[in-house]
Amino acid sequence: MIDVLLGLQWGDEGKGKIVDYLAKSYDIIARFQGGPNAGHTLYVDGKKVVLRTIPSGVFHDHCLNLIGNGVVIDPVALQGEIEQLVAIRPDVLKRLFVAHRAHLILPTHRALDAASEAAKGDEKIGSTLKGIGPAYMDKTGRNGLRVGDILSKNFKAKYDKLVQKHTDMLRQYNHQVNWQEWEKDFFAAVEYLKSLQIVNAEYWLEGHLKNGKKILAEGAQGSMLDIDYGTYPFVTSSNTIAAGVCNGLGVAPSHIGDVYGITKAYCTRVGSGPFPTELNDATGAQLREIGHEFGAVTGRERRCGWIDLVALRYTVMLSGVTKLIMTKADVLDHFNPILAGTAYMVDGKETNELPYDLCDTDITPVYKTFAGWDKPISSCANFEETPQVFKDYCKFVEEYLGTKIAFVSNGTGREQLLQIP
Ligand code: GDP
Ligand code: IMO
Ligand code: MG
Repeated sequence: MIDVLLGLQWGDEGKGKIVDYLAKSYDIIARFQGGPNAGHTLYVDGKKVVLRTIPSGVFHDHCLNLIGNGVVIDPVALQGEIEQLVAIRPDVLKRLFVAHRAHLILPTHRALDAASEAAKGDEKIGSTLKGIGPAYMDKTGRNGLRVGDILSKNFKAKYDKLVQKHTDMLRQYNHQVNWQEWEKDFFAAVEYLKSLQIVNAEYWLEGHLKNGKKILAEGAQGSMLDIDYGTYPFVTSSNTIAAGVCNGLGVAPSHIGDVYGITKAYCTRVGSGPFPTELNDATGAQLREIGHEFGAVTGRERRCGWIDLVALRYTVMLSGVTKLIMTKADVLDHFNPILAGTAYMVDGKETNELPYDLCDTDITPVYKTFAGWDKPISSCANFEETPQVFKDYCKFVEEYLGTKIAFVSNGTGREQLLQIP
């Protein structure tokens, strides 16, 4: 059986921490999409680690970790990440597997990302500039290079052909990027990549499924950044919803079990694009400061606002979420009142449905107000101990979304998680 864990908002919901916690109950953790645009934070023996391409089960001795075929891999970023991990746990490589169908991010993909963003000016996506969009464009354009290609004697010729195409494209942009300086590291990292355990992942997973192994598919980004259903064009270039698991790992839908959907107790977004419940005021700044809302990869300030139940109901629906997990509830300890967006006013009408285009639609959120609480959730050892107002807040969210909350996270530590009976 394959359970799924994914973000329900615009990313950074705390997926890394939760996967690290749940990993004790799984044999395999598999990333199914995204790439080094992700930054999943875990604390291992009190030390902060940010994972980008590597699944968040890597610190558990019993867990195998797969970088699935739906992921785009920057060999240089991956090597750097592995070296950082090996310094903490020398044996991590034994537990790491890479799908041979996963596509590669080339230096010129990063250059194209930068050039494309610069050309967009004020309308830029706010990309992490890791080359994600251009790499997925080459995948769907049927020009991409895959991990399996590095084992072929024609790899350099294939590389040169693609780079020639990219050079022509870069010429169209009036934006200079010295990507040639990155090539030496790229080829060194490709050699390193060859030394990893490269597998035919769909058969590899099938074998483990037949042996009754439990698999957790780890999502990156968030559902509102999904290429099809997110706030297009301000999205990433992959399917971040549960549907992405089947094509991202090569597994049939009949294998999918529980779908864990993670939401913060409030909402954040990094990069450009619509965010109806955003707070451009002192409360938003306070959420950022208390919640330490700065990008794990880029260090950029995250935009902050109240939880948006309209958007959440949409993303719960898209992925068929069976269990909700609410993170960063402790951050709300410092706020009174606490608001939850329950509807949108669009053209003078109230709606619970996400409009087709959030960019050009004038949306005024409708809020329900909750009183703050005086007992800190951060110090509660179990859900029973949490203040009644918080319990009411959780109940309201559950009823609105039609899905039960399984866990409330009340701090950064692996064990700071309150199970709801
Ligand atoms: P991810 O991309 O979904 O894995 O999330 P990030 O790691 O980018 O961002 C989540 C941030 O919130 C990290 O710094 C976590 O350490 C932190 N975090 C996770 N859960 C909690 C929580 O319950 N409370 C607090 N205060 N911080 C949390
Ligand atoms: P995790 O897995 C938050 C955002 C970027 C930008 C848009 C497109 O840590 O939750 P891209 O680099 O994919 O071309 O950027 O998506 N973005 C993320 N925001 N968390 C992430 O990952 C993100 N990955 C991409 O900020 O707005
Ligand atoms: Mg993150």
